[in-house]
Amino acid sequence: MTNQYQTAQLRELDALHHLHPFTTHSSLRASGARVIVRGEGPYIWDSEGQRILDGMAGLWTCDVGYGRKELAQAAYDQMVELPFYNTFFKTTHPPVIALSRKLAELAPDTLNQVFYGSSGSESNDTAIRLIRHYWMLKGEPKRRIIISRKNAYHGSTIAAGSMGGMAHVHKHSYPVYEGFRHIIDPYWYGESEEGESPEAFGLRAARALEEEILAVGPENVAAFAGEPVQGAGGVKIPPTSYWPEVQRIVDKYGILLLADEVITGFGRLGTWFASQYYGIRPNLITFAKAATSGYIPLSGIIVDDDIAGALMAHDDDFHHGYTFSGHPVACAVALKNIEIMEQERLVPRVKEFTGPALAKVLAKFKDHPLVGEVRSVGLLGAIELVADKATRRRFADPGRVGLICRDHFFREGFIMRAVFDTMVTSPPLIWTQAQFDEAEQVIGRTLDLTLNDVAGELAA
Ligand SMILES: Cc1ncc(COP(=O)(O)O)c(C=O)c1O
Repeated sequence: MTNQYQTAQLRELDALHHLHPFTTHSSLRASGARVIVRGEGPYIWDSEGQRILDGMAGLWTCDVGYGRKELAQAAYDQMVELPFYNTFFKTTHPPVIALSRKLAELAPDTLNQVFYGSSGSESNDTAIRLIRHYWMLKGEPKRRIIISRKNAYHGSTIAAGSMGGMAHVHKHSYPVYEGFRHIIDPYWYGESEEGESPEAFGLRAARALEEEILAVGPENVAAFAGEPVQGAGGVKIPPTSYWPEVQRIVDKYGILLLADEVITGFGRLGTWFASQYYGIRPNLITFAKAATSGYIPLSGIIVDDDIAGALMAHDDDFHHGYTFSGHPVACAVALKNIEIMEQERLVPRVKEFTGPALAKVLAKFKDHPLVGEVRSVGLLGAIELVADKATRRRFADPGRVGLICRDHFFREGFIMRAVFDTMVTSPPLIWTQAQFDEAEQVIGRTLDLTLNDVAGELAA
C-alpha cells in the first residue's frame, strides 16, 4: 500500500467514514490524514514510504518498539489456548493471576490488588467509583469530592473528563460531573511569579491543595488525584518540593492519593512507577498504555491493602466491571512485555543512559531564539516555543506555532506532539545513541524552519 493512488484512496475513505479522536474535523478533511502502514523498532513508515522516527512512542505507549514477534507469539499462543473468558462470576484464569502477581511485585509495597479495564479512561472511572465506594464502606459517605489539577488529563469518559482539568474537554460535557475541584498545576515555567524559585513555587502549588481541602471542608474530601508528571497538559515536571508537600497534606487530612500513571507507569522515569521515583505513597495507581507497549489494549488500577481490605470486609457487591476486565490475551501480552523490559534492562537504562541522553539533546536548543525553556525527566521532555525569551511571552493565537512546528517535524521524519506551543516528546525505552543523534539533527532543522515562518513575530 505504498503508491500514490492507494494513499489518495485511503485518505478519501478515511475522510468519508472515520471520525478521529481529539480532531478538528474540518481541517483534517481539508488536509487528509497521514496513513501509517508499518512499524519496526523505533521507526514507523507512512503509505508513501517515508520513514519516521517516533518521538512519541505511538502515544506515550510503544515502549519496547514496533514489530516485536515475541509479543505477537504470546497473543497467538493465548488465543489458541483461551481467547476469552470473563472474570465476573467467581471465575479467573492463569494469565490474569500471573499478571496480577507480577504487578503486585513491581508496584509500591502496600499496593497488592489489581482491577482491570481496557483504557486509561476506564481505569480512572474505576478509581472514581472505587474511592467513593471505599468511603461509603468506611462509614464516611460525605467524602465524595476529588481534588485534581487544572490541565490534568485523566481520560475522555464523562467522569474521567470531569476529574481532568482541561477546559476544552469540559466544554463538550458541560456541566461536568459534580464533586471535582481543580487547583493550580505545578507548572513553574508558565505559572510562577517573577523571581519565584521552582522550589518556592512547588510549595505554593502543593499548598493550594490544603487551601482547597479547607475551603470545601476536610470531611467532604475523598481523594487527591494527580499525574506524577502532567503529560498531555504539556510535560509539566513538578519542582522537587511539590510531591513531598502533597504527601504531607494528604496524610494530614487522611484523604486518599490517586496517582494516574497511565503515562508514567512501566518505566518512563527509570522506575517501574513514577510514584517510586518521587517517593510518594499513593493508595491507588491507574495504568494503561505501556503495560502492553500498546500491542493490545489493557489498563487497570492497583490498590493498597487498606482499600482491598475494606472491600473484603463487607458482603456488599461492588457493582462495577467491564466485559474485558482481565482479558486473557491482553494479560498474556502484558506479561511478555514486562519480561522483555526486564531482560533488556529497559527501566534501569532510563536512569543510566536514555534519560540523560534525552536531556542532553534538549539542552542543545535552550539558546535557540524560539525556545523559552527545555525540560525533561526520564524519557519525558518538552520544548517551550515563545515569542519573547526574556519575558516568556507566548505567540498570539495559542497553538498556531506549535502546529506549524509539528507539521515541520512530520515532514522532516520525526514525531513530536504539540500541546499548544509546547513541543513534547516521550521516546520509546529502546532508543540507542543513533536515535538520539538523529533526533538532535531533526530538532535543529525543524526549529530553524519554524523560526523562518514566524521570525516577524519574535521580540526584537
Ligand atoms: C495521564 C492519563 N490518564 C488517562 C488517560 C486516558 O487514557 P485512554 O486514552 O487510554 O483512555 C491518558 C491518555 O493519554 C493519560 O495521559
